[in-house]
Amino acid sequence: MQQDTRTIDELIASHVPGHALEQRFYTDPEIYRLEFERVIARNWVLAGHCSEIPEPGDFKVFNVALESAIIVRGSDGTIKAFANVCRHRGSIVCLEANGSTRKFTCPYHGWMYDIDGNLAAARNMPDDFDKASHGLNKLSVDTVSGLIFVSFGEEPLSLEGAKRDMAEPMAMFGFEDLKVAAYKEYDIGANWKLSVENYQECYHCAHAHPDYAKMHTLMVDGKKRDRLQHHMIDKMESCGIHKIEIDFGDTKSPAGEIGYSYSRTALFEGYQTGSKEGKPVAPLLGALKNYDGGASDFAIGGFSYLLAYSDHVVGYVFTPVNIGNSRCDVYWLVRDDAEEGKDYDVDELTWLWDVTTEADKTIIANNGKGVQSRFYRPGPFSNMEEPERRYVAWFLQELARE
Ligand code: FES
Ligand SMILES: [Fe+2]
Repeated sequence: MQQDTRTIDELIASHVPGHALEQRFYTDPEIYRLEFERVIARNWVLAGHCSEIPEPGDFKVFNVALESAIIVRGSDGTIKAFANVCRHRGSIVCLEANGSTRKFTCPYHGWMYDIDGNLAAARNMPDDFDKASHGLNKLSVDTVSGLIFVSFGEEPLSLEGAKRDMAEPMAMFGFEDLKVAAYKEYDIGANWKLSVENYQECYHCAHAHPDYAKMHTLMVDGKKRDRLQHHMIDKMESCGIHKIEIDFGDTKSPAGEIGYSYSRTALFEGYQTGSKEGKPVAPLLGALKNYDGGASDFAIGGFSYLLAYSDHVVGYVFTPVNIGNSRCDVYWLVRDDAEEGKDYDVDELTWLWDVTTEADKTIIANNGKGVQSRFYRPGPFSNMEEPERRYVAWFLQELARE
């Protein structure tokens, strides 16, 4: 086979709209390096919920590709984020995934940083060593209705539009007052874009997710869908949920702003929430009065998605581990006053999206293998892959940016 000698710009320009990406977007190390700068670092990524680190010194570590962030509640009670890289000779400082501490001690030579990122102690350094200028490097961190977002870039896109427009739909489900009832990481043997692309489309749902397909109506269109939506919208109002649609997703995002979207779709009749039998698995969220039988899709940026039922929220974050592997973080959130064992059971709560994500892990890894073949050629999208088409267009637009 002839070697593809096109430059990255030529490769982007030769993309056929409405088709999958060419092989090199999944396999070329130069593209992988460039997309971290141009696509990932400019964006914000969901790194958890404020309730995970309620007290000063509570922390969690969040990794994306080769970067690692320490997210910590500082001494002033605000959430801060630091690059998890020692200012001495560059060791990873914090090896625990989460915890509570007064000091972060580097495991290599023992430099100690306080919870505000300042270098507090370093042994045997020369007299002219300036501790004050050797604190941990600060990362951008912000919150959207209780959700923590981190950026690894110097000049991330603005989150202001998302904060403003998501405030109302997120308030309906009490996002500020949620807690993480369960969390799981799924290692996916495929380039990160294949993981996000798979989340974007439900063309595969009927085939790959029989349990999901029983209750979710995303693959239904036409009159049947209108009927289902109509019924749920009436119920939504009486449950205290307003009908709002927001779409600044992907290519539509205003200049300098992160893209975001919100909408609610009906579940099939008889399903009150996304659970094995469709029965509630946790107390009603926010100020909801009843189960409306709907599911809200939230997207903020190109990596983070949330699905709100009437009684729980599921968060999904897709990030690269390396060029051929990605990770999906899944959070199951319930109201913060719900008690495990009494108000919810973790196995019941997590059942649907655990089986669904396990199935996705397999189909995405198969996709990841196939796109590396010499016989792979980008095929055309179906009518049901419109969001993926938009995602691919957005990705290429971001990648082409200087
Ligand atoms: S690398 Fe951290 S103390 Fe030396
Ligand atoms: Fe799926």
